[in-house]
Amino acid sequence: MQPIFPTVGIVGTGAMGRSIAQMAVQAGSQVILFDLQPGATEAARRALADTWQKLVSKGKLEATVLETHLARLSSTDTLSALSGCHLVLEAIVEKLDVKQRLLADLEAIVGPQTVLATNTSSLSVTAIGAALQRPAQFAGYHFFNPVPLMRVVEVIAGLKTSPVVCQQLTDYARQFGHTAVSAQDTPGFIVNHAGRGYGTEALRVASERVADFATIDRILRDQMGFRLGPFELMDLTALDVSHPVMESIYRQYYDEPRYRPSVITAQRLAGGVVGKKAGEGFYIYDNGVAVVPAEPPVPPVANPPPVWVSPKAARRAELYQLLKDLGASIETTQAPSAAALILVAPLGLDVTTLAAVERLDPTRTIGIDMMLDDTTTRRRVLATNPATRPDMRDAAHALFAQDGKAVSVVKDSGGFVTQRVVATIVNIASDMCQQGICTPKDLELAVTLGLGYPMGPLAMGDRIGPTNVLEILFNMGTVYGDPRYRPSPWLRRRGALGLSLMHEEA
Ligand code: NAI
Repeated sequence: MQPIFPTVGIVGTGAMGRSIAQMAVQAGSQVILFDLQPGATEAARRALADTWQKLVSKGKLEATVLETHLARLSSTDTLSALSGCHLVLEAIVEKLDVKQRLLADLEAIVGPQTVLATNTSSLSVTAIGAALQRPAQFAGYHFFNPVPLMRVVEVIAGLKTSPVVCQQLTDYARQFGHTAVSAQDTPGFIVNHAGRGYGTEALRVASERVADFATIDRILRDQMGFRLGPFELMDLTALDVSHPVMESIYRQYYDEPRYRPSVITAQRLAGGVVGKKAGEGFYIYDNGVAVVPAEPPVPPVANPPPVWVSPKAARRAELYQLLKDLGASIETTQAPSAAALILVAPLGLDVTTLAAVERLDPTRTIGIDMMLDDTTTRRRVLATNPATRPDMRDAAHALFAQDGKAVSVVKDSGGFVTQRVVATIVNIASDMCQQGICTPKDLELAVTLGLGYPMGPLAMGDRIGPTNVLEILFNMGTVYGDPRYRPSPWLRRRGALGLSLMHEEA
């Protein structure tokens, strides 16, 4: 098949430029590499030749195809050699003025039909293209690292970008096996914007000392199925990369509270405790392997107390069934006996407030997170309140660990851990739909492919139930009095319908 762009120029052949060049060659394009630094294009060519050679050794690429690939790849040390290109993509240093200058130089060299594109991850596409004579021919083409494995690319329309150009870039991505998603030119585009909730809300949970880093990671992995906990993820990305992104998106949105970064990462970055590559981040690394603190053991309990469940508990029937399965002695009286362990299962509210409102004895009251169906999770999360007696905490811990499922006991906060983080993710995603940054379908695609979440944020909202997400957000807003939890109007409107209905919207 004839590639949409038969000849492609790549300017800047570092980590990104060279692997985008790989995709272009594999799609059948002639590719010309250019870099300011002497020797850089040769290094990139050698690296690509090595990559293809390895594929040949593994039997994944025919030797003749390797030859064809190499024949399609050339380099130049003069920008004017790119004059005949149908597409020129820049992947140079992330500096607005340098990119603007380069693109203006390129525009003066190439033909009027040539598409110019930027791989910027954080600058405005409109701003980069502002000085161009033909801004309609210029778009964002944002790939993810490592490009051959991260098979999604954001096609970003600047204010003046022609829809034809976006369509060409979308079709071209398909030719090398990537999924293109369309994004409006807004801070963080889709993936880096949708990814805000996970880290920032987990940092807030940690900053309130609800649980330690390892516990928060365990909870989000085991309850929701995230591959990496937020702190493991930040250690991998490294704070010198992720903290500036958090700050940049927050500032670009004029201090929108939903994206507010945390002093925890600012301080750790300043102290050089940036993650795995530094040997120290949220975890200590021993020869590249994280040293994970052991889980607290299940306490021995000789005489388990009877259990009484608040009539207002979330998933009350399921909670009763669970208690039965665990062999608990359940009190069904209107009020708990003097010996009973009192269980509440709030959505968004804290255990302390609930105990006060329901006039329950706080010293015997424990919260359990029932937002998710217990059978779908690998961990149960309990929360004490400041007055909870240690014997009641231990009794609850032992009871819910009875069948061997992992249990974490955290401190009281509105929304436990998973409720807070997931509701925040769903809310931010809903607000992106509200702003029309992309279609709900592209949002789900971009997040699952670009962030590796177990499901898209809107599907997450549907799994929990949109009205439950709203209840969590309303209640957290009450607990914290903080506008960061105000629900997006999009979520409020769709709450009663279910979010997946919108996946059909184009
Ligand atoms: P890099 O530092 O590995 O490579 C940049 C290359 O551009 C270097 O070889 C440098 O010599 C060359 N260069 C710098 N200024 C130049 C100029 N004026 N003209 C020609 N060549 C020039 O950087 P990396 O990581 O490949 O990033 C490149 C772009 O891709 C940046 O805009 C970055 O924000 C974006 N990006 C990076 C991702 C990543 O994970 N590294 C992910 C997505 C986008």
